[in-house]
Amino acid sequence: MQIDGSTRIVGVFGHPIAHTASPAMQNAAFDRLGMNWRYLAFDVDPDRLRGALGGIADLNFAGINLTVPHKILALDIVDEVDKQARQLGAVNTIIVDGHELRGFNTDGYGFVRGLREDFGVELRGRRVLILGAGGAGRALAIQSALDGAAAIFLANRTASKAFHVVGEIRKIVPHAFAVALPMQPAHIAKHLDEVDLVVNATSLGLKPGDPPPLKKFPRRCNWLRVYDTIYRPTETPLLSLARKAGAKTANGLSMLLHQGARSFELWTGRRAPVAVMRRALHKAVYG
Ligand code: ATR
Repeated sequence: MQIDGSTRIVGVFGHPIAHTASPAMQNAAFDRLGMNWRYLAFDVDPDRLRGALGGIADLNFAGINLTVPHKILALDIVDEVDKQARQLGAVNTIIVDGHELRGFNTDGYGFVRGLREDFGVELRGRRVLILGAGGAGRALAIQSALDGAAAIFLANRTASKAFHVVGEIRKIVPHAFAVALPMQPAHIAKHLDEVDLVVNATSLGLKPGDPPPLKKFPRRCNWLRVYDTIYRPTETPLLSLARKAGAKTANGLSMLLHQGARSFELWTGRRAPVAVMRRALHKAVYG
């Protein structure tokens, strides 16, 4: 690894950030392509985000990724927001362009590529149940509508948030079929037979001992694909339940990989070495 007067700097701002696997993934890509670039992680307090983003423009960083809790806050800080980031309601990638900050969202792309890689499916024509209408759930529900999902059921513990996101979907994709639900077994069970993709975008499953956000899948549901945006642990209680019921399952590592690959391409203008990034990510996350 070389660091000298012409090393380009990119990185990630989050809070907390200690467990991020993105530096391993991105630096492996720079090494493979022999690029004099480095990716670093910064623990940035949300109260300091505006100042920190001003700093990256002044210090001539090439760009930055944003993760929890900065993705929504950044919308109002950057100088220009790309259309898709505006629609998804979050910025996770910034390009520094002179003194201007340009905001993008690569999470939606990562989700689409992840589904293609793990399940061989596209969102177009799918009937999707999304669990969670926080920042992640909202972005995935809107991406599903943008990509032409045939039906979107959005369930959230706080039902009002799901209704709000469905209202946004209707503004962005007026012909989309989208329904908000409370996260209650009776409401969800009614729709489980008629969807072909279930996506967990709640935080349930991150902590040991968390219950799954759904308690039951239909028996022998081999038509169902269940994607969990959580990737640590490898198999969340939801994925375990789904696998035992016969569904095809995948965790969020593919989404993390492909959002990172797209960020790499936005910053560098070069094609991301995805296989190298996947190996580095796997090693960083699972050892
Ligand atoms: P992110 O940006 O990762 O989506 P977030 O915006 O805080 O984070 O959203 C967390 C999601 O997990 C929300 O959908 C939240 O439901 P509420 O909107 O009702 O809070 C969901 N969630 C968190 N803990 C939960 C729990 N114990 N049961 C059900 N849903 C939960």
